[in-house]
Amino acid sequence: MTTRWGILGTGRIANVFCDTLLKVEDAEIYAVGSRTEEKAKLLGAKYHAKKCYSSYEELVSDPDIDIVYVATPIICHYEHVKVCLLAGKNVLCEKLFVQTTEEAEELIALAKSRNLFLMEALWTKFHPVYQKIVQWKEEGKFGDVKCVEASFYTCGTKEHRLYKDTTQGGCLGDLLIYPLLYACTMLGYKPIKVNAAAMKNSDNIDIVESIQMQYTDGKFAALTGGIASERQALLSIYGTEGRMVIHKEYFYEAQSVTLLNWNNEIIDTFECPFEINGYEYEVKEVMQCLRAGQIQSMIHPMEDVIGMLRLMETCRTQWDESL
Ligand SMILES: NC(=O)c1ccc[n+]([C@@H]2O[C@H](COP(=O)([O-])OP(=O)(O)OC[C@H]3O[C@@H](n4cnc5c(N)ncnc54)[C@H](OP(=O)(O)O)[C@@H]3O)[C@@H](O)[C@H]2O)c1
Repeated sequence: MTTRWGILGTGRIANVFCDTLLKVEDAEIYAVGSRTEEKAKLLGAKYHAKKCYSSYEELVSDPDIDIVYVATPIICHYEHVKVCLLAGKNVLCEKLFVQTTEEAEELIALAKSRNLFLMEALWTKFHPVYQKIVQWKEEGKFGDVKCVEASFYTCGTKEHRLYKDTTQGGCLGDLLIYPLLYACTMLGYKPIKVNAAAMKNSDNIDIVESIQMQYTDGKFAALTGGIASERQALLSIYGTEGRMVIHKEYFYEAQSVTLLNWNNEIIDTFECPFEINGYEYEVKEVMQCLRAGQIQSMIHPMEDVIGMLRLMETCRTQWDESL
């Protein structure tokens, strides 16, 4: 049973996602939609889409599309997801889903009232390595998880899109979401205390930041990220029985992982190269959910999106208070 995808937006990640869809069994790039005819035709021709629409409204009105992938900048997500849902379309929306819990709650309620599938495309969460780390945690292989340290710096100057483009939503939503994901997965979405600080540019965009989260029993997370001179993405998870370090590759796209005890002996190791480019796992999850008639993914339920947005709101409030 083929799933016919509609692609909303024609930028960088839309191209990567289409590269993936081309190779996933039973997925079809059925239609693409852009704000301009030229870009719709360009992407449509590149990926052999049956339909190319020069407005998002036309795209979502096509009755033959099973699901729309929203690939626009963060600030546009609320509006574009709403357009899709109101037109009766299932939606996979790029991260960060939206900017506030209020917006997210409204869209979740709308999807639910119309029995439509809704998911944020937080691709890392569907990766075999991420799933293995969760399994190790559930099996108690870390012992009691005590600490998560993670950083995600992207290499860039003042010309970087995140620095310049106010529609992109800053480094918190674009980059820190990955360190936060691991912290929340291992320690929970409800720390007892958050300390967040950000450096902003003259356009009020957060470009470097740190987030420390304290939990009960002395557990904590220390997270940093932003635009720096070198690209770097590190993740360490420490527990009473052992530690896991991903240091040879960017942790959010890791394809191997090793768990060591405190004598530096290997407890377990796992390797799973991507079948395509790493986006295939979220695509397959979406298609499986649609076939099963689910309106949410059990791997990435919208409740986790709300948990993440609440934390980000706490961070933003602290930035404002420290001015
Ligand atoms: N999962 C991942 O690994 C990953 C990686 C990179 C980015 N992302 C996420 O994907 C989303 C898009 O990122 P991107 O890097 O693909 O951005 P991008 O290259 O700037 O593309 C965004 C596209 O959105 C459309 N758009 C609609 N309204 C727009 C507006 N007001 N300003 C600019 N573009 C607008 C444009 O397509 P048309 O002109 O054709 O309408 C544009 O090409 C973001 O949420 C980002 O966080 C995810």
